[in-house]
Amino acid sequence: MKILVTGGAGYIGSHACKALAAAGYTPVTFDNLEYGHEWATQWGPFEHGDLQDPERLREVLQIHRPAAVMHFAAYTYVGESVQEPGKYYRNNVGGTLNLLEAMRETGVKIMVFSSTCATYGPPERLPLTEDHPQRPISPYGRTKLVVEGMLGDFEAACGLRWAALRYFNASGADPEGQIGEDHDPETHLIPLILDAAAGLRPAITVFGEDYDTPDGTAIRDYIHVTDLADAHVLALKRLLEGGPSAAYNLGNGQGFSVREVIQAAERVTGRPIPVEVGPRRAGDPPRLVGDATKARNELGWTPRYADLEVILQTAWNWHTRHRKPTSEVTPS
Ligand SMILES: NC(=O)c1ccc[n+]([C@@H]2O[C@H](COP(=O)([O-])OP(=O)(O)OC[C@H]3O[C@@H](n4cnc5c(N)ncnc54)[C@H](O)[C@@H]3O)[C@@H](O)[C@H]2O)c1
Repeated sequence: MKILVTGGAGYIGSHACKALAAAGYTPVTFDNLEYGHEWATQWGPFEHGDLQDPERLREVLQIHRPAAVMHFAAYTYVGESVQEPGKYYRNNVGGTLNLLEAMRETGVKIMVFSSTCATYGPPERLPLTEDHPQRPISPYGRTKLVVEGMLGDFEAACGLRWAALRYFNASGADPEGQIGEDHDPETHLIPLILDAAAGLRPAITVFGEDYDTPDGTAIRDYIHVTDLADAHVLALKRLLEGGPSAAYNLGNGQGFSVREVIQAAERVTGRPIPVEVGPRRAGDPPRLVGDATKARNELGWTPRYADLEVILQTAWNWHTRHRKPTSEVTPS
């Protein structure tokens, strides 16, 4: 059974392709490679294409006749979305609209969508549950919330069934070392910390040390990318079996502060990690932690790589082999 994976050449999408193949599906990657990598498309056909090209979308759907779509393709930089909101609405909302219309025209009725905890905005209570009010504070978060609404509208109009998976901080790398995180520019904490450990950047900047948290740094919920991929397969299976549309948080339910992540990375890498302290960034809440009880209960999802040091070890194994200059770095 084929599954179309938009953004399948990217970080999370490629791990989902690997999980799909392991579960017996054939992932068909649809990606324009603006941020993705062809080397990451190892588990099925690769179709070069852009969400902005409705004809190409229809063509690929007609050629492969997938049973469902996993939709990862999007722009993902919160800061850039503030500067360039049009770019984000055009790609994340307009591109998704093209995809939903092409699916409707070709009779594909199931979508698993990459949503985000950024749709919640500043938390009113923690841990965040799916019924927490959604008041995103960035254009990026708003584009994702708009798409969640579109999924409901297409369900009402033409029977689409969907899962909106609201990820917390995706992290780590394939434990077998075949794929991992390679964003350019990189803005995620763990690869930046590992760059500092490897001497590829002089230091890691900690944005804010005066939050109301035990060590003053911001607390986030890190979820291993392979656990995210597993949840996608489970959500897909539930929809293929006729299950209802739903939104699910995907997080570990426990938070780690920036300082705790740095200390754990020092243990895993065996290297000192230089730290610079900068000011808080606008819109960064002190704590973001998700409650994934619904995904555990309804999807039968159990994260396998929840331990922070395991997350860091898989990321470091990938980093040492993949990031340049690798010759100076050996895995611990
Ligand atoms: N990384 C995280 O922590 C995180 C957290 C919450 C949600 N998400 C969401 O998960 C999804 C995947 O994130 P990621 O970190 O793997 O990002 P990524 O940039 O590695 O992957 C996105 C992929 O989509 C492709 N793409 C973008 N626009 C496209 C277009 N118009 N047509 C075709 N392909 C296009 C890119 O080339 C890239 O391969 C995104 O939708 C993101 O918003 C990520």
